Amino acid sequence: MSRILVTGGAGFIGSNFVRMVLAEHPEVFIANLDKLTYAGNLENLAGFLDHSNHKFIKGDICDGRLVEQIIDEHRIDTIINFAAESHVDRSITGAKIFIETNVTGTLTLLEAARDKDLERFIQVSTDEVYGELGPEGKFTEQTPLSPNSPYSASKAAADHLVEAFGHTWGVKYNITRCSNNYGPYQFPEKLIPLMINNALNDKELPVYGDGLYVRDWLYVYDHCTAVWRVLQKAPPGEIYNIGGCSEKANLDVIDLILKRLDKPKSLIKHVKDRPGHDRRYAIDADKIITDLAWQPSLSFEEGINRTIDWYINNQDWLGSVVSGDYQKYYEQMYKDR
Ligand code: NAD
Ligand code: DAU
Repeated sequence: MSRILVTGGAGFIGSNFVRMVLAEHPEVFIANLDKLTYAGNLENLAGFLDHSNHKFIKGDICDGRLVEQIIDEHRIDTIINFAAESHVDRSITGAKIFIETNVTGTLTLLEAARDKDLERFIQVSTDEVYGELGPEGKFTEQTPLSPNSPYSASKAAADHLVEAFGHTWGVKYNITRCSNNYGPYQFPEKLIPLMINNALNDKELPVYGDGLYVRDWLYVYDHCTAVWRVLQKAPPGEIYNIGGCSEKANLDVIDLILKRLDKPKSLIKHVKDRPGHDRRYAIDADKIITDLAWQPSLSFEEGINRTIDWYINNQDWLGSVVSGDYQKYYEQMYKDR
């Protein structure tokens, strides 16, 4: 039986990953370590919180003693690190926590993986470590790291640490670098759920700058299957880009959401741009497709329809995560724009 420590498993991608693994791989045990920041919610664990192969532990990945205790108590053989501060805008207004969690936290997990001689350490990274693209080309695994935001700089620092632990101490690792995810349980500070939530409530849709920034979208379930495939099939020391081959300008994504919700384009409001805003990301995912036989299962059109339906049908969830601090955050983030 594989016994995995998943970190950040109460967040968007982590909770989708744990749900998928528990449903599809009954031989796996998961210890789920999450600090429950504003982005982590026990509501995201609906349907599996009390699963017999799942143990939720509230705690910080920077707490080395706790991490070692979990590894010993649950006979963990693998760490998959999803835990992070993940929002670029928040890293611009306050970078320190990004360094603590994304860099020091990853370091703490690596030390535990080394000292406990774990079978595998998987670092869930991002395509943003590569910087930005012009109108042509795609990121490959050979693209030099050139992060532009405090968020992506902290993720790149973590990637370097992972490779350094592999090189220096033989920690058996993989790094995955995925493009923009969307789907159920994404916190509504990110583009797609924010626009769905605002449109459902007939609120303005704040589009940064000209709205022609391009992202390569992947449905969250497909990111989860890719990480699982890496765990099952990848040799240690390999890095994999993951992407949906689905580049869209932000305004085109918003247009689809408005049409599906039958809301007017007049809700769109162009606002002041994000400082240092990366113009375009696009992923060359040939390596994982060819070497590990992974494929995304959904087109963007299928995925976005499923996602919009999920948010329509889960307005209680939306209501609970946007209460309290979210309103303060929203007013602060968008007041001068
Ligand atoms: P998220 O913000 O939704 O979830 C992050 C989770 O980590 C939350 O549950 C939070 O409580 C937890 N966490 C934060 N600090 C912690 C700490 N110190 N100790 C323990 N838990 C802590 O993020 P997400 O969108 O699910 O992203 C997950 C991972 O995937 C991140 O590493 C992110 O960099 C990476 N990633 C995200 C995307 C995307 O589009 N969302 C794309 C590529 C890579
Ligand atoms: O590429 C992977 C990355 O994708 C992940 O590593 C990050 O964790 C994740 O947050 C995401 O980063 P982005 O900055 O691309 O995502 P975000 O949803 O914040 O923004 C997507 C695009 O939409 C970007 O061009 C900025 C724009 N945007 C965003 C918001 C929140 C707006 O125009 N208006 C908004 O209100």
